[in-house]
Amino acid sequence: MRVAAILLAAGVGRRFSATTASPVAKQYLTLGGRPIIRHAADALIPHVDLLQPVGDAQALADALQGLDVLPPVAGGETRQESVRAGLEALDRLPESARPDLVLIHDGARPYVPGEVTQAVIAALAAHPGAIPAVQVADTIKRGRDGVIAGTVPRDDLFRAQTPQGFRFALLRDLHRGAAATDATDDAALLEAAGHTVALVPGSEDNIKLTYKEDLMRLERLIGPTLLPRT
Ligand code: CTP
Ligand code: MG
Repeated sequence: MRVAAILLAAGVGRRFSATTASPVAKQYLTLGGRPIIRHAADALIPHVDLLQPVGDAQALADALQGLDVLPPVAGGETRQESVRAGLEALDRLPESARPDLVLIHDGARPYVPGEVTQAVIAALAAHPGAIPAVQVADTIKRGRDGVIAGTVPRDDLFRAQTPQGFRFALLRDLHRGAAATDATDDAALLEAAGHTVALVPGSEDNIKLTYKEDLMRLERLIGPTLLPRT
């Protein structure tokens, strides 16, 4: 089975920039001596045959210098459009190089353990899709107008992570047929079409850099941030 990964780096990181005034998009911040996006690439490469980066060509060429990756393609306005751009780029490869399986990974998620990636790939032998997830530990409340409106049973609630894995042709076809909503993950497209998606154990360390607080947790795992000179 030929496995490709699409590495997403076309976002601008609005939620992160709002609290940090960072001059570069969050996935290009240097943590422990390497850009976040490079940590993500280094973590995936041992497990895949092809890596397709999506985002700014120059920024990606700098951050991924020396790695064996496909030429970057530009992303879109939404995450869903960026995934689609990556899938179409893989689809343009000659038949013999086209993947059977594809992983979709957030470039802002630098610390994905190898076991998590392996578990996702392994689950694809039996399911058309598989995602890593961790069970929700906190008690979850619904709220309205500043007061509790109810408690949500949490025993079947999970937080979805990436890399999410799929049979390539299925995900490509679902993206081609999908309405232009902004699905925040790819499993949602399979769910909507009635396909089974396996849940495999994720990791509490598989953090997505979304807010400033996430940077502090990632610094503890990886190393200090090198702030770009302004
Ligand atoms: N992403 C992308 N193209 C987009 C939007 C997001 O490739 N149009 C990527 C981001 O670069 C990130 C991943 O998808 O690696 C997860 O998205 P998210 O954490 O939401 O990043 P941003 O969209 O950049 O952040 P925000 O939503 O706060 O603006
Ligand atoms: Mg976003």
